[in-house]
Amino acid sequence: MKSTIVLSARFLALASMLAPVMGGTYSRTQNIVGSGFYNAFQFQAIADPTHGRVNYVNMATAQSQNLTFASGNTFIMRADAHTVISDSSSTGRSSVRLMSNSAFSTHVAVFDIQHMPQGCGTWPAVWEVGPNWPSGGEVDIVEGVNDQGTNQVTLHTSPGCTMPSSRTQTGTSLQLNCDTSVNSNAGCGVRLGPAASYGPTFNSDGGGWYALERTNSFINVWFWSRGATNVPSDVRAGGTSVNTANWGTPSANFPNTSCNLSKFFAANNIIINLTFCGDFAGAVYPQSGCPSTCTSYVDQNPTAFANAYFQFNSINVYT
Ligand SMILES: *[C@@H]1O[C@H](CO)[C@@H](O)[C@H](O)[C@H]1NC(C)=O
Ligand SMILES: *[C@@H]1O[C@H](CO)[C@@H](O)[C@H](O)[C@H]1NC(C)=O
Ligand SMILES: *[C@@H]1O[C@H](CO)[C@@H](O)[C@H](O)[C@H]1NC(C)=O
Ligand SMILES: *[C@@H]1O[C@H](CO)[C@@H](O)[C@H](O)[C@H]1NC(C)=O
Repeated sequence: MKSTIVLSARFLALASMLAPVMGGTYSRTQNIVGSGFYNAFQFQAIADPTHGRVNYVNMATAQSQNLTFASGNTFIMRADAHTVISDSSSTGRSSVRLMSNSAFSTHVAVFDIQHMPQGCGTWPAVWEVGPNWPSGGEVDIVEGVNDQGTNQVTLHTSPGCTMPSSRTQTGTSLQLNCDTSVNSNAGCGVRLGPAASYGPTFNSDGGGWYALERTNSFINVWFWSRGATNVPSDVRAGGTSVNTANWGTPSANFPNTSCNLSKFFAANNIIINLTFCGDFAGAVYPQSGCPSTCTSYVDQNPTAFANAYFQFNSINVYT
């Protein structure tokens, strides 16, 4: 009950501030840079709920094996690229899963990413999720598998949330029903256009910025490549405030037309994870053009994961 009261009070306060429905001004409440990632996130050494060929390690192990590394305005998190795994081992390749200590309802988050994990078998994701999945909602901001195609932005919800076919966005709508129980939890996704939005092309371009804006009337996600000429100056600066009204048409737009966003999305935590194979990357591996079987490839080829790392310049959250 208490959290409901707090949430609706915040909603009322923000609703009056954010009078223009298409965006508004926000102030920075979190500036996560370099070693600040260790304070803002906790390491989740858990069994992969998506059955990946992964061994999520705790902070002490990650630091001692240099799977996370912080210096100045750089934070790196990566997979082990040294160890051959026995096919009979019950766990897979060591990697990292981070969950933010703070949870956010209406907010803007800007992810300045220099490099994302690439390679056959990889399934990296930057996403937000609420409690009691799927009732607290899930927004996948950056996600893909096996270096294939462009980025996909997806909502996953409990039953009753759908998206209109016509939306103000540069990406292409996929399934319109966000309900996790429909079509094997495909969710309501939007496929981005630019090759630079994901994987090896993202990395060769020096990465870029992903930004999420969540209000009670819409969820928008933008992507700008490092060299794009239309990067908003407040996004590039990573400063103390942003005005999303100046950001232009989003890559993906999820309006509340037929989805009561305040009902389907609770306060969400940010999660950054890198798993291998499993329910998504493993399922589509045979069609990916990648060699061998997914599990065997991940187990036997440690050096193939030298580029399976995230490098963050910063994450800024504005409310
Ligand atoms: C990794 O991220 C994706 C979000 O795209 C999520 O569906 C999956 O459950 C996550 N896996 C793990 C093990 O955290
Ligand atoms: C840890 O990783 C960083 C970044 O890749 C690298 O600069 C550093 O040399 C590594 N440290 C060790 C001890 O390998
Ligand atoms: C959509 O958002 C607007 C503004 O917050 C609100 O008035 C309206 O009731 C919402 N619609 C639904 C279906 O939740
Ligand atoms: C949306 O959901 C909230 C919380 O459950 C509820 O208070 C509100 O009346 C709903 N709005 C609409 C338009 O159904």
